[in-house]
Amino acid sequence: MKVKPELTFDSLIDQVKSDVINWRRYLHQHPELSFHEEKTSQFVYETLQSFNGLEVSKPTKTSVMARLIGKQPGKVVAIRADMDALPIEEENTFEFTSQNSGVMHACGHDGHTAMLLGTAKTLAQLQDQIKGEVRFLFQHAEETLPGGAQEMISAGVMDNVDVVIGTHLWSPLEIGKIGVVYGPMMASMDTFTLTIHGKGGHAALPHQTIDSIAIAAQVVTNLQHIVSRNTDPLDNIVLSVTQFIGGTTFNVIPGSVQICGTTRTLDSRVRETLPELMERVIKGITDAHGATYAFHYVFGYHPVVNNEQVTRVIEDTVCEVFGNEALDMMRPNMGGEDFSAFQQKAPGTYFYVGAGNQEKGIIYPHHHPRFTVDEDALEKGVKMFIHATFKLLEQ
Ligand code: NI
Repeated sequence: MKVKPELTFDSLIDQVKSDVINWRRYLHQHPELSFHEEKTSQFVYETLQSFNGLEVSKPTKTSVMARLIGKQPGKVVAIRADMDALPIEEENTFEFTSQNSGVMHACGHDGHTAMLLGTAKTLAQLQDQIKGEVRFLFQHAEETLPGGAQEMISAGVMDNVDVVIGTHLWSPLEIGKIGVVYGPMMASMDTFTLTIHGKGGHAALPHQTIDSIAIAAQVVTNLQHIVSRNTDPLDNIVLSVTQFIGGTTFNVIPGSVQICGTTRTLDSRVRETLPELMERVIKGITDAHGATYAFHYVFGYHPVVNNEQVTRVIEDTVCEVFGNEALDMMRPNMGGEDFSAFQQKAPGTYFYVGAGNQEKGIIYPHHHPRFTVDEDALEKGVKMFIHATFKLLEQ
């Protein structure tokens, strides 16, 4: 006979609730930038070691893994949380603001880490009921390419993992809602740099120059023709030029211009065609005007594409734990997330936990100096992780 899980879990989650809030506040006060999460990872490592039954290790310099091996054999479910902060000066005024000037947890990763610690503490007490293994992945460096996920995977954290899940606290989504997306959820995130070499000279004698500014402007405009002119309009693509550097003064045509930007797609196959399509435009325009170029395209994060079966489990969990009205079937967005790296190794699903609250004034977007989350969301995240993990282990 099956034990009705809600009864046992929820009393344990109740006990861990205030720990999770305290951990989140501690982490919020001590934010660290990507690849520099030394104190954060040490705090996570020591906290995990204080729970019974976990095998805790550091797969890379600033990441942490904990394994909870059940009494019976079964599947391996991994849960991932990211831990890094951003180079932002915090403008919040509550009593646990950042103590590291110029660095802030402005994306909610402090909450992600705290929720996963709470999940680990709770599940460690339920070790007898676990068939298989739960693996807790505390990832460094989500905010910066090349990202920490790939490093952790190279260190073996995904070996033998059957399913992986993760979540983002999401301030645009009201507290109480859980956001679920089937299939593509977030975009690939690649970057490019381009230098256009012309020939500098006097602005009054442009015919004696190869005007890198005028040529670069053509390139920027024509790159936009790739979207829906060189690719299917039904494919979602963003191609943004975000930097254009050239020139020093009003009467000198510069010899070169530097451009950089990013591309986003929801489909890996479309993504792979972009460098070639871009280079065709760049080459055509620079050739036509006698300029040369250096083009460098960097593949960053894969798109986040949720597995159908795992997403079904997440959806069922939302409805069972919080009721149908909590479920928000969301659209994909063109942001990037290196949770996708874990999905390259095992089927997985990423979801959102609503963390905004108009009434409490929690309305600022992610990466804003006044960003924060409604702390009531933390318990909901822990509940999602625990209930979904048991369902996934049972499948
Ligand atoms: Ni984030």
